Amino acid sequence: MLQFTYSRGVLHAEGVSLAAIAAEVGTPFYCYATAAFESQYRALDSAFAGTEHLICYAMKANSNQAVLATMAKLGAGMDVVSVGELKRALAAGVPASKVIFAGVGKTRDEMAFAISHDILGFNVESEAELEALSSVAVELGKTARIALRVNPDVDAKTHAKISTGKSENKFGIPFDDAPRLMDRARALPGLAAVGIHMHIGSQITDAKLSPFRDAFTLMRELALDLRARGHELEHLDLGGGLGVSYKLGNQPPPDPAAYAAVAKEVLGDLGLKLVMEPGRLLVGNAGVLVTRVTFIKEGEGRRFTIVDAAMNDLIRPTLYEAHHEIWPVSELSRDAPMVVQDLVGPVCETGDYIALERSLPPFVAGDLVAVMTAGAYGAVMASTYNTRPLVPEVLVRGAEWAVVRPRMDVEAIIALDRLPGWLG
Ligand code: LLP
Repeated sequence: MLQFTYSRGVLHAEGVSLAAIAAEVGTPFYCYATAAFESQYRALDSAFAGTEHLICYAMKANSNQAVLATMAKLGAGMDVVSVGELKRALAAGVPASKVIFAGVGKTRDEMAFAISHDILGFNVESEAELEALSSVAVELGKTARIALRVNPDVDAKTHAKISTGKSENKFGIPFDDAPRLMDRARALPGLAAVGIHMHIGSQITDAKLSPFRDAFTLMRELALDLRARGHELEHLDLGGGLGVSYKLGNQPPPDPAAYAAVAKEVLGDLGLKLVMEPGRLLVGNAGVLVTRVTFIKEGEGRRFTIVDAAMNDLIRPTLYEAHHEIWPVSELSRDAPMVVQDLVGPVCETGDYIALERSLPPFVAGDLVAVMTAGAYGAVMASTYNTRPLVPEVLVRGAEWAVVRPRMDVEAIIALDRLPGWLG
């Protein structure tokens, strides 16, 4: 996490002290580093230089408009999965002509909104969806560009909850069905079948990139087969999924250059535009969650460091047994002998933890703690469980910083409830 370093004993995001931000906005808060977004985007973009390509940032990973606008400025399109995301992308200034709409359950209303905004295309996941899209497009007197999402049935070797490319997953169309469905799409009115799409899972870290290589190879075969059947393909969408480093000292996952080399080697001669949908790769290591220690509690043979962030703020440890590095914001405590402890939140669930049995500095009440690699699937997966307001998000750029989402007002959450007449 190159943009998060200690300076004068305090952890900084680029040129800004996290302690200084905490003093102004309170804790917990998410903090993102613009330079990290930019360097990740540029690394991927330049790795594909010389090949026609479009990076559609998978905004589900972090959909704050400040993040979207930063990406859009770099030239990114967006991969959206709901009309809400589409509206948010448009609000952040992303041109509809660079937006891909994915997801297994798009409603007709969502389709209509996206078609009327002339988005770049839909990634279609089933025959039923093809038919619905065709009829919505015809109703609107428009043409919807589509890519068929194919399930290549490869094992991405990642966490079961984020693997998508196996035949038992709900995603995509079985590989062998793809030619028939592309023919069907061509025959249906209101559709232009211009691409094929794959996405085999998330946080893929295989050192040889073999799940990608295997899937790309299948996509190549399919593209050639479809061409032979007279389909005029324009693009091949490689999905996202390239992993990032969550653990210090571990072998880092393959970098964008290695990924691009495989893609170019397998697909480079097809003359197709390569679309990709990275999420985590672009934002994961660009963000941290800063929290403050509330109490230390010595249990029987166990030390609990209770912090003010909880599973509702960052659910990844609870949901995926995810590992996030924990760094003290004050560097001083880094040199103290480590103590094995659990970092837990205040929510009333045993699963409410950020780190278990971790060797960490001997934190005391009041200390600030940074939960690293929290830029992807952090703030976006937060909830107001336990009537805990969503936490602020802060964006840093060099020595500047701005609150890009204020702390939610607890009164506003409460005010959303309505009492029915018989209770009023
Ligand atoms: N394209 C499609 C069709 C996807 O389903 C996803 C992620 C992406 C692209 C972006 O994948 P990425 O490049 O970020 O790996 N909440 C989980 C991750 C869920 C991923 C869902 N799909 C987590 O926190 O690990």
